[in-house]
Amino acid sequence: MVSIVTGGQFGDEGKGKIVDYLSESMDTIVRFQGGDNAGHTVEKGNKRLKLHLIPSGVLYDKRLLIGPGMVVNPEILEREIGKLRRVGVELDGEKLGIDPKASVIMPWHIKLDELGEMNREEPIGTTKRGIGYAYEDKVSREEIRMVDLVKPEVFEEKVEKIGEEKRKRIGSLGGELEEPSLDEYLEIGERIEPYLTDVSKEICKGIDNGEEILAEGAQGTLLDLIHGTQKFVTSSSTVAGAACSYLGIGPTDVDDSLGVFKAYITRVGKGPLPTELDGAKGEKLREKGNEFGTTTGRPRRCGWLDLPLARKSVRLNSYDSIALTKLDVLTGFDKLRLCVGYKKDGRVIKDAPELTSGIEGCEPVYEELPGWDKEISDIREYGDLPRKARQYVERVGDALDSEISILSIGPKREQTIDIS
Ligand code: IMP
Ligand code: MG
Repeated sequence: MVSIVTGGQFGDEGKGKIVDYLSESMDTIVRFQGGDNAGHTVEKGNKRLKLHLIPSGVLYDKRLLIGPGMVVNPEILEREIGKLRRVGVELDGEKLGIDPKASVIMPWHIKLDELGEMNREEPIGTTKRGIGYAYEDKVSREEIRMVDLVKPEVFEEKVEKIGEEKRKRIGSLGGELEEPSLDEYLEIGERIEPYLTDVSKEICKGIDNGEEILAEGAQGTLLDLIHGTQKFVTSSSTVAGAACSYLGIGPTDVDDSLGVFKAYITRVGKGPLPTELDGAKGEKLREKGNEFGTTTGRPRRCGWLDLPLARKSVRLNSYDSIALTKLDVLTGFDKLRLCVGYKKDGRVIKDAPELTSGIEGCEPVYEELPGWDKEISDIREYGDLPRKARQYVERVGDALDSEISILSIGPKREQTIDIS
């Protein structure tokens, strides 16, 4: 059975924690897109580890896969493997598999990302991890892939040819490229060789054998390259359907699509966010929710839950059910607000406009709900939640015409309520 878990907002919905929670009953957890622009925190004993590439099920004894549609910075990958080793989690070729076709993020991609942002009249606010520029090479079919790291001649030839072009481009943007050390890459290549595996084939075999496979998305639906708030998006496709093409499985092999939504909304980087709270309420959400980027440390922009945008995500991903996270962060607000539509050019609209230019200038129309005061992080049964908290959850479920199957009320695994 294949289940796809994707973020319904702008990333940072708490997918990592939900994937960790679900991993117990899985055989394989596979990441299908993005790279180390993603970031999630896992807790091992009293240690908090920030991970970017390794799938979130890492703390269980499960097969972990990095799919062919990912862009991988080998240095970051090795750093993560080392970090995990130091806390007693050994990632050998039995546990971790990496597809040979995954793209390699090279130093020039990172340099170009930095220069691109610097030179843009209107920056995107990227994570500067070189993600977009690595995908650009895939599309232009001039990329270095993981398999090239274990083939010294191919690697050297590609670095010479591609590197020359990148050096020129970087120079024309006023930058300078630090020469990558080929030996270091080839040494990494020797170490990663045992991980290389045909991910698509492995998953298809797993499906045939009746295994439980979880496809873990990164970023969020509203950052999708095509369907997100262009141009303020990431450079991969983040919707559930993309798991099929990135992993090389057919659509009829997918059994379940789960969407992860925060009980409010956050965004890191530029782009429209109609419900953004600039004042004390936004600050309260940021502080209580610890809304600072895992990858870049940037403060996240915070706002009330935007239902028109969330409904668009439900549609794009055909979610079977929803995990609503960080409900505990809403404790202590006198009144809560849900954005149910927008006022635009004197009219009230229910659906989010498709174009970013259309969303800009949309004024949220709010519905007010009563808040609750009692801390909820230690509650384990849905029925024990304050009535007003349940009312909030149920109103969100109704508005999205979706079943809310999981509630998250804190960062720990046990702070999860299954309400399916
Ligand atoms: P890039 O993915 O680094 O190219 O950045 C493009 C946009 O996506 C920027 O607004 C980033 O802040 C955002 N972004 C990328 N990865 C994540 C993520 O994992 N969580 C939240 N936002 C992200
Ligand atoms: Mg994150």
